[in-house]
Amino acid sequence: MSLFAVKPLSRIIEESESGEHQLKRTLTATQLVALGIGAIIGAGIFTLTGVAAAEHAGPAITLAFIAAAIGCAFAGLCYSEFATMIPIAGSAYTYAYATMGELLAWIIGWDLVLEYAVGAATVAVGWSGTLVSLFHNLGIDLPVQILAGPFEAVRMPDGSEATGLINLPAVFIVCAISILLMRGIQESARANAVIVVLKVAVVVVFIAIGWSFIDPANHVNYIPANEGPSRFGYTGILRAAGVIFFAYIGFDAVSTAAQEAKNPKRDMPIGIIGSLIICTILFILYAHVLTGIVNYKELNVPSPLTLALNKMPYTWLAITMKLAVLAGLTSVILVMLLGQSRVFYSMSRDGLLPKLFSDIHPKWQTPWRSNLLFMFFVSLFSAFAPISVVGEMTSIGTLFAFVLVCGGILVMRKTHPDLPRPFKTPWVPLVPVMGVLVNLALMAGLGWSNWLRLFVWMGLGLAIYFGYSRHHSRLRTVPVVGPGKGGR
Ligand code: ALA
Repeated sequence: MSLFAVKPLSRIIEESESGEHQLKRTLTATQLVALGIGAIIGAGIFTLTGVAAAEHAGPAITLAFIAAAIGCAFAGLCYSEFATMIPIAGSAYTYAYATMGELLAWIIGWDLVLEYAVGAATVAVGWSGTLVSLFHNLGIDLPVQILAGPFEAVRMPDGSEATGLINLPAVFIVCAISILLMRGIQESARANAVIVVLKVAVVVVFIAIGWSFIDPANHVNYIPANEGPSRFGYTGILRAAGVIFFAYIGFDAVSTAAQEAKNPKRDMPIGIIGSLIICTILFILYAHVLTGIVNYKELNVPSPLTLALNKMPYTWLAITMKLAVLAGLTSVILVMLLGQSRVFYSMSRDGLLPKLFSDIHPKWQTPWRSNLLFMFFVSLFSAFAPISVVGEMTSIGTLFAFVLVCGGILVMRKTHPDLPRPFKTPWVPLVPVMGVLVNLALMAGLGWSNWLRLFVWMGLGLAIYFGYSRHHSRLRTVPVVGPGKGGR
């Protein structure tokens, strides 16, 4: 069988609706929007904004947020078309299987590990740092040996830098969330919704209170003059857009829950585009207030928010914000780990991964063994790995998935022009072509070292594909059937 054999759409949909390996359809439109916001607002907005403004864009970081949002919007529109046409768990992986064949589907599924599992580990380390700083505010200082991995230099609350042995808070949060995810999608979605309300409320409070502390002098030189490649001016804004792209990652995770949505045809675009719009507005306002309170030249710090809060006379706000950041990061980890298990669920159902990834718990109806396995690997990673190095891999992996999804829309319009599309990407081919180009440009901006890591990771993936998956693929072992003829 050819490496480029596509999985017939009729079969994808048929298989998703039959068999004992079933997920429950319970998620509403509001819960899907909350899932999106849950995954988006996190480490990116709370930490990267400062560096991006100080090094690349100045107050025009707001324009960088708009530029990155445009790139994401192209991808979001394409994701929405796919998610309503193929409302199956697995997201970009499943779409690629239907359009570009098994090998590319494998590549994208493997690539999504970078976005979801590595992303979750990265954010778990950010969670740990926030907890340490909150504890410090409360007068509790734990030994650094249990707060950071051996390769991670962390800034201690007193300003010094140190390395540790193991990052136990990161392990704790990954385990706690994995256990919640095993217990059920409804429990997870409810916990996520509570956290999302809290974090959005606090971001809004920061914007509202902070607005009156904006010093207009900080915004006078809105687009600082260019000082060399990627330093200020318009090229600087573009580079900043690449850096803060991480802040937007997550809206696409909504599509991994397509098989658990009550009414995916209507609610998937609402979840994906809705969460993206809400977060874009919040990000722009937040960045405007931040650079208004603190001059961009001072923002080159790991926690720019703390700097801004220190300029306001409300100590309660500092503590509340830190709690909200902690909550915010918690829901990011939750949705990332959820997305990861759902992508591997689909890959396992297709035979490309062992069956344990699609074993559903009889009572909880979740792929609990998969959750358990990722709990182990992600906590191991967050406990010891040099996260600052691999953090950008999350961005390059996600951008690569976006490029393939946008390209997939073009292929699908050619190969399946008459298929019902409850949501149609507007202005095809302009939107998908722009999606490919903009996201490739953002990838290019991430530099050769990230490309190298991406290639190494993909090389490992290909070895597994040719060593295992190709021989176990259900497309190979179970004959293809036509629409409506049964066939599992
Ligand atoms: N967008 C997510 C964050 O910034 C990944 O934490």
